[in-house]
Amino acid sequence: MCGISGIVHSENFGRNLLNSIRNLEYRGYDSCGVAVIQNGKIDLRKNIGGIDDVNLKERLDQMQGKIGIAHTRWATHGSVTQENAHPHLSANRKFAVVHNGIISNYQQLRERLLSEGVCFESLTDTEVFVNLLEKSFAESNDLEQAFLTALQQIEGSFSIVMLSSHDPEHLYCVKKESPLLLGLGEGCNYVGSDINAFLEYTRKAVVLDEGEYVILGPNDYQIRSLKTGKKVNKSVLQIDWDLETSKKGGYSHYMLKEIFDEPQTVRQAMQIPKEQISAIAEMFDGSSRSYLMGVGTTYYVACISQYYISTIADRYYSALSSDEFSVVDIHKGDMVLAISQSGETYDTKTALVNAKDCGAQTAAIVNVMGSTISMMVDHVIMQGSGPEICVVSTKAALAQTFIMVRVALELGLIRGRITKKVYQKYQRDLEEFPEIVEKILNEQSGFVRNIARDTSHVEHWLFLGCGVYYPVAMESALKMKEVTYQHAEGMPAGFLKHGTLSMVESAVHSLFFVPPPEQKELHERTLIAMEQVKSRGGTVIALIFQGDDRAQGLASQSVKIPPVSTLFAPLIQMIIAQMFAYYAALDLGRNIDKPRNLAKSVTVG
Ligand code: AGP
Repeated sequence: MCGISGIVHSENFGRNLLNSIRNLEYRGYDSCGVAVIQNGKIDLRKNIGGIDDVNLKERLDQMQGKIGIAHTRWATHGSVTQENAHPHLSANRKFAVVHNGIISNYQQLRERLLSEGVCFESLTDTEVFVNLLEKSFAESNDLEQAFLTALQQIEGSFSIVMLSSHDPEHLYCVKKESPLLLGLGEGCNYVGSDINAFLEYTRKAVVLDEGEYVILGPNDYQIRSLKTGKKVNKSVLQIDWDLETSKKGGYSHYMLKEIFDEPQTVRQAMQIPKEQISAIAEMFDGSSRSYLMGVGTTYYVACISQYYISTIADRYYSALSSDEFSVVDIHKGDMVLAISQSGETYDTKTALVNAKDCGAQTAAIVNVMGSTISMMVDHVIMQGSGPEICVVSTKAALAQTFIMVRVALELGLIRGRITKKVYQKYQRDLEEFPEIVEKILNEQSGFVRNIARDTSHVEHWLFLGCGVYYPVAMESALKMKEVTYQHAEGMPAGFLKHGTLSMVESAVHSLFFVPPPEQKELHERTLIAMEQVKSRGGTVIALIFQGDDRAQGLASQSVKIPPVSTLFAPLIQMIIAQMFAYYAALDLGRNIDKPRNLAKSVTVG
């Protein structure tokens, strides 16, 4: 839930340490800090606020040297205060630690240390660990031993990087259930919560596995197993993410930039070899029961996929929110497909661990290379969408949905529910999709922006759709809530009359996701609901396809989308709704890339 970073350099790392936490800021941004060794002592500066604010207050940019650690926080234990920000120092100021995760037994340890006379400055679990280190070192006078002894006493999930003035040439790092990677440079090595920590400086990475610890120097590193103490040899990963895609590239916000990355993101998703897609379709086909799982946006991607699989392959799989997955009794032979941008989401990871324990086959669609989920499943598809920095998921969600359409088509073919001819026609549609997305973004953004501006004051929205447009409406409502802080409720259009209709009046706006008229039954049902809202004095805004005069007649404002294959109509509306949320938030002056109270990667329960 936080971003941690460390550098060991043979000369001076300059501003690289500060840049590295700036690149991790999307993981958490309520406070941050840096610790470096200067003149044999640890210099620590930290405060509340984002990186730039704290830099202004504390001059983090002056903190240079050969070795240092840094942290950007999303509070879990202890409120957002300067004392609770990381790094944390031991009482004798000879140890500094940054930590991501939760030390679950920290209360008992804290009480023990208090009874031994240790004074704490913060309320964090991390400060407990750093004082355990100091105590252990006093006993062994051996830094590696002290690190291991302190680690043996803590429980929970954590990745930790330790800096000590007793060894100004090495960082001591450990990974358990929270992500940690090494970046290997020339005369300089890095450690970080994810690739963005060092992508600017090196393309070579080593992904740490559960229960591994590292002693990291500027020119060397040694990875060992916590359990056996034995040295572990790991392969070095070549990162193929394009640095430019992780920059804002002239856009005012990452969210907008990432929406405009979507044509490329979909191209990448189309490049995923057919065999990888078929492998998932075959796993579905060969399993007795299958589940689609994600949380937040990825849950909605799972719901959208459920409709595609049901209509194309005639199979109905339950879509479940990862945090509710424990209601399911998983059996051997079941199949669970997880969808996760970060590959580190606690709820999804936990559900997968349980599914595996029960003997299920597991697969995942993940964006971040080397992430925990990508490594723990039987089959993984790396979606290749590039870094998604905005907390709000746009391009990653679209790519996941596109990949799931591909899975549905493979499954439809395997199960004989679509003919080879239909399959081939859809494949041609898939190939044309990136260009269609490009066109839509270029041609529609102005119209969307105008409607968003006119309606940004609206405090209550109903987002309504039928069939697959219903989960699209739910996902779009989530986007709206996340980024504008306005209330938006997604629901099936036909559900409205069963209660929510009583809320309808002119101040409550309804955004209808209207299918193309050729989807007759869905279209008709949507129009009936539009009439119900209109006749009760509600304000109707609609996403419609060009030439749909009936729908246009019912809406006070509408975005008129050029005709597209019905296969993609829902995805196009998903993109338009992303833009709609973006422009509304822009008008409201919201913190678009880092909405209040949220973090990109939710690694705690
Ligand atoms: C998306 O806009 C949200 N920020 C959030 O719901 C997110 O989709 C969810 O936390 C799951 O994250 P993941 O894809 O990294 O697993």
